[in-house]
Amino acid sequence: MNQEFDKYKLYKASVQSTENDVVFLRDTYRQLKGKKAESLAEDFCGTFSMCCDWVKLGDNHNAVGIDLDAEPIAYGKENYLSKLTPEQQAKIKIMEADVTKPGLPTADIIVATNFSYYLFKKRNELLAYFKSVHDRMGDDSMFLMDCFGGEQCYSPNEEETEHEGYRYFWDQDTYEPVTNEAQFYIHFQLDGEAKRERVFKYDWRVWTMPELIEILQDAGFSKTHVYWEQNDSDGEGNGEFKRVERANEDCESWIAYLVSEK
Ligand SMILES: C[S@@+](CC[C@H](N)C(=O)[O-])C[C@H]1O[C@@H](n2cnc3c(N)ncnc32)[C@H](O)[C@@H]1O
Repeated sequence: MNQEFDKYKLYKASVQSTENDVVFLRDTYRQLKGKKAESLAEDFCGTFSMCCDWVKLGDNHNAVGIDLDAEPIAYGKENYLSKLTPEQQAKIKIMEADVTKPGLPTADIIVATNFSYYLFKKRNELLAYFKSVHDRMGDDSMFLMDCFGGEQCYSPNEEETEHEGYRYFWDQDTYEPVTNEAQFYIHFQLDGEAKRERVFKYDWRVWTMPELIEILQDAGFSKTHVYWEQNDSDGEGNGEFKRVERANEDCESWIAYLVSEK
């Protein structure tokens, strides 16, 4: 059988839910700031799916996506941007740029999702990125990033998820306790085909939540709120995030959002 292999389509179907993410962003901003957010800056935007969902969510919304790789940007333009109305398209700006460089635009909401900032392996590199985000922010801006943890990420393991027509594999290939560095891969296998290995590769440092909160403080952020993923009846993450002071559970594997204010 000759099937199309579209790595970004499979990636989106497996790991992204930007149509839900933007609702969380809108509601969280409203709760924290008491007003409506209009502008979104998506750092490490890849195919900038979140920018597209943000402008679809509100007539006053606009978005800027920043990524240094031309390939996912071109994919997003062809496959996501082209599906928007001309008015919506005009509200999105994409910059092929390095998020660590000065001169990036401000926004009500700045996001760094899918753990992209884990590529900064040294404390001073991560601090420099957080400082540059802080510098870009207005008094009423907020900065959202996701993070993960739990005992599962401190040893190699591979998780397989069955989808219609294909399997998705999240492979933690290595874990180094001295540095917290870990090598991750995404593999895919279309039905009836061999597994395609290492379609996406991530050479990361697994940052702990207290480290992140302290580095955010050092970068100048006055507050960081933790939004912890809630569980369904089987004890699995249900995609809903609630603001907590403490998680009060020690999951094998967890995901949370950190939302920081200037
Ligand atoms: C893990 S992917 C995440 C893509 C997207 N945010 C998502 O949620 O799927 C990381 C992205 O960060 C980009 N990237 C890596 N270093 C960067 C940098 N210094 N400045 C801008 N983009 C960068 C890569 O090109 C890649 O598209």
